[in-house]
Amino acid sequence: MIAVDISRGYVNAPIEDHVNIVAEIKRMKKEKNAVILAHYYQESAIQEIADFVGDSLALAQWAAKCDADILVMCGVHFMGETAKILCPNKKVLIPDMNAGCSLADSCKAEDLAAFKAQHPGYKVISYVNTSAAVKAHTDVVVTSTNARQIVESFPADEKLIFGPDRNLGGYINSITGRNMLLWNGACHVHEQFSVEKIVELKVQHPQAEVLAHPECKSTILALADKVGSTAALLKHAINSDKKEFIVATESGILHEMRKNCADKTFIPAPPADSKCACNECNYMRLNTMNKLYNTLKYELPEVTVDAEIAAKAIVPIERMLEISAKLGL
Ligand code: 13P
Ligand code: SF4
Repeated sequence: MIAVDISRGYVNAPIEDHVNIVAEIKRMKKEKNAVILAHYYQESAIQEIADFVGDSLALAQWAAKCDADILVMCGVHFMGETAKILCPNKKVLIPDMNAGCSLADSCKAEDLAAFKAQHPGYKVISYVNTSAAVKAHTDVVVTSTNARQIVESFPADEKLIFGPDRNLGGYINSITGRNMLLWNGACHVHEQFSVEKIVELKVQHPQAEVLAHPECKSTILALADKVGSTAALLKHAINSDKKEFIVATESGILHEMRKNCADKTFIPAPPADSKCACNECNYMRLNTMNKLYNTLKYELPEVTVDAEIAAKAIVPIERMLEISAKLGL
């Protein structure tokens, strides 16, 4: 058997020129009873070949119900971990293990445990963009699709800690009137949007609606016509009678927006300090078609979660899925 080098976090094996990667991925999916799940921030080719494309909540819901033997998570590591926790008997693969998340990195499990100990009587609500170890210290997990409803499912006087995204937490505080204690974390992609550049775009496109993800700073959210998860922004774009949209989130979502709305124009909001027209998550973009091909071929690298951590982390994840199902989300 050939030894496969995954020391870099992905399969480091050459692909011969004659290989038709798209056809081979399709063939291997069938042969191995594998499914490919992709987040909206993946490159377009990956979204096109995936069996399912969605936001963080939909990816978890899909993982929980799919009956494949192998699940390839084309997203970031916490998404793979969540899938593995929900499907412990399936092989969960990720094209590149280095696909982390700056937001998840901003909250270490031991720091959250210490913070909890300093705040007895508080419940912990964690954004899904966290490690399994952080989820193990959590009462309920949320995504940007269900955060508002899950926060509101707690009594108004419940003492709550929300982490790790200070922007999403602040936004939820502002729309619910809650006063949750916020972890001081943020996403390096969403923090980069600039009010000046969005205002410049608004001047050039006065009819355009501004769509923003709640991981953006409050100054950006204040300019938005619609604030929501990737799925909510996509749905809004499809249903809106407006023809132009300035999109303040990772630019991968534009693929699905353009595909669903051929008659509409989508303008990516640029980051503040760049000449580049759009804002990409360097972690999400580590997954490529070549790495996806090798992942399926060698069934590596595999996402694993420590059994003790998984046994604790599944509780708040399942709580989120139950509440979401009741709410029809
Ligand atoms: P969504 O759940 O809205 O897809 O967000 C995931 C994410 O990582 C945003 O940066
Ligand atoms: Fe994490 Fe931000 Fe990338 Fe989303 S866009 S995966 S929050 S680093």
